[in-house]
Amino acid sequence: MTDGTSDQIVARFDEVRARTEQLAAPLSPEDQTVQSMPDVSPTKWHRAHVTWFFETFVLADHEQGFVPFQDRYWFLFNSYYETVGPRYSRPDRGLISRPGAHEVGDYRRNVDVRMRELVESIDGGTLEKLLPVIELGLHHEQQHQELLLMDIKHVLSRNPLEPVYAGRPSAPGGTSPMGWVDVEGGLVEVGHAGDGFSFDNEAPRHRVWLEPYRLADRLVTNGEWSEFMADGGYRRHELWLSDGWAKVNAEGWRAPLYWHELDGVWFEHTLHGTFPVDPSLPVSHVSFYEAEAYAAWAGRRLPSEAEWEHAALVTGAAPDGANLADDESFHPKAAPAATGGLRQMYGDCWEWTSSAYHPYPGFRAAPGAIGEYNGKFMSNQMVLRGGCAFTPEGHVRPTYRNFFPHSARWALSGVRLADGGAPAVTS
Ligand SMILES: [Fe+2]
Repeated sequence: MTDGTSDQIVARFDEVRARTEQLAAPLSPEDQTVQSMPDVSPTKWHRAHVTWFFETFVLADHEQGFVPFQDRYWFLFNSYYETVGPRYSRPDRGLISRPGAHEVGDYRRNVDVRMRELVESIDGGTLEKLLPVIELGLHHEQQHQELLLMDIKHVLSRNPLEPVYAGRPSAPGGTSPMGWVDVEGGLVEVGHAGDGFSFDNEAPRHRVWLEPYRLADRLVTNGEWSEFMADGGYRRHELWLSDGWAKVNAEGWRAPLYWHELDGVWFEHTLHGTFPVDPSLPVSHVSFYEAEAYAAWAGRRLPSEAEWEHAALVTGAAPDGANLADDESFHPKAAPAATGGLRQMYGDCWEWTSSAYHPYPGFRAAPGAIGEYNGKFMSNQMVLRGGCAFTPEGHVRPTYRNFFPHSARWALSGVRLADGGAPAVTS
């Protein structure tokens, strides 16, 4: 989009903005108001916050005679931008009944009109300078589309009536054996370079040394996870990092987040409803600690983010045809038949890596509020790669770095094993 005409920019803007509203459409105003835990935001908050982003970072500086849609929205819908000013308490977002979901719709439509008018009326030079911020705003909105789905899944999971968000589960698939793909390694380059959008945390491109390694050719399945559970996976301290073992005991973990046992049968909450756990599907909603413990139990390890990215590139794995949100399955699918290459690298589940979320060598956050987008979160989190069934099409690429805290389980996260090369996190 970086060299787009104003028509192309407006078309892209309209497309992304409409998709958010499509995703929210199955949800009532009451659904859109609930916050089921501090990490989860209400749907209407997501819808308003991404709108605030355009109002604050584009319209406020460039619209002639700018007047905010509502004086206090800058406070209510600022997520974490200290440069912009104080903001409403994140864990209390579910206490906000007004504006309601319909009023948030009014806010969205107002900003949409003003954004279109701005893009169509400013001169080419100014538009060119504005494009990176508009583009960031659209990718930001796509990130929140994914979060909207993760968050409403958690919200609906807390309701004993087991409400359905949308759609139906895909037909059960068979489980194909896990194979391995060998990668030579050596001195390789990772990170984003060249044309096309990327977030700042994906650069600079830089060299890393990789010992020869191999990656599992598909994600770990629910069936394999059940074997881990049956072998005492959640009861054996020797498999766990110390902090992970503390979480297991403090929170009573004995299965992935959305599994519950009824009369000896494990069921899983999904956006389609609640069903018996399908052993052929990838395991999902496990924390880094659980992924790491599983790898220890399996006698393997998690891949580093550089190993994941390099393997994706050298094997030609691509997001085309992956199980992303546009597929509207809204759930991981069974791996397709083996091909000799890497399966499920994109879509299905974000894949935990053994890499801490740190700045790449030479990274510098941009000055001002935009510099707060990623840089200040580069501690106490782990990197995940590859996108998931909630990720919008076109929003994931080989260099994309997602990140969550070690104990996070509400993200649609899964596990791919690695072997050889660098040692595992545990010793
Ligand atoms: Fe945001």
